[in-house]
Amino acid sequence: MSLISTKGVSKTYRSHSLVGASSTKVVLDDISLAIEEGETVALVGRSGCGKSTLARLLVGLESPSAGTVMFRGHAVDTLTRGRLKDFRREVQLVFQDSPSAVNGRFSIRAIIAEPLRHLTALDDRQRDARVSELLKMVQLPADLADHLPSQVSGGQLQRVCIARALAVNPKLIILDEAVSNLDIHLQASALELLGRLQKETGIAYLFVTHDLRLVKRFASRCLVMDEGGIVEEIRSADIALLKHPAARSLLAAILPPLPDRRREEHC
Ligand SMILES: Nc1ncnc2c1ncn2[C@@H]1O[C@H](COP(=O)(O)OP(=O)(O)O)[C@@H](O)[C@H]1O
Ligand SMILES: [Mg+2]
Repeated sequence: MSLISTKGVSKTYRSHSLVGASSTKVVLDDISLAIEEGETVALVGRSGCGKSTLARLLVGLESPSAGTVMFRGHAVDTLTRGRLKDFRREVQLVFQDSPSAVNGRFSIRAIIAEPLRHLTALDDRQRDARVSELLKMVQLPADLADHLPSQVSGGQLQRVCIARALAVNPKLIILDEAVSNLDIHLQASALELLGRLQKETGIAYLFVTHDLRLVKRFASRCLVMDEGGIVEEIRSADIALLKHPAARSLLAAILPPLPDRRREEHC
């Protein structure tokens, strides 16, 4: 049974103009997908094609207008309270923009401990111990716990968000452009960290990105989205063979290929 899946999911937003006319916009159209335990799936597509909307639906932040999101084979909107808590714990989302994803007035300790307060019965002392353990897992110094978000770097804050997502031992983390704002070296080290955590914990990732360069390195399977639908699926090793025009234009965006390391060093 898949960890998470969708069947015919659509999402429509209604907007109202100043003169009172309303119009509807179909953002997701008939999406069916499945993510298995322990795998890494890339979800790629140009900006505005609906990736983040799908990510929000998959973690239950929004409901589909039609179709079903299923967690371990059960429709999310019919989960019992106990299973709903499992769902909230087991599926976590890390956003692109870490500064706006955290409360600037909270210490790093409080930020990482937040899901522990809501979703576990740990007491204060146990929570502090878990935060120390998580900082170690994401290779951040222990004294960072007392800092405010404004006192740490962008790369460190992204690791804080990853630590927060890991806090409750999720089975799936959806990374919505989670490394897109980092420079190429920080991206590489964040992906290495995520890969190591996957080996240690068996966690699955849905890696949402518009940057095909990162897909081959990180995911085993790649779903291509365009205009609210999934238009192609391919093994990540074969992304050069993608056919759909939307996928071809993403490929064209990464040409010429990454600069040759050796040549770069000589420049
Ligand atoms: N709450 C909303 N109300 C109206 N339109 C929205 C809302 N959220 C997203 N959209 C629209 O849905 C489309 C897809 O957005 P999004 O899911 O953020 O795409 P992506 O993450 O692929 O860039 C965009 O055109 C966006 O303007
Ligand atoms: Mg997005």
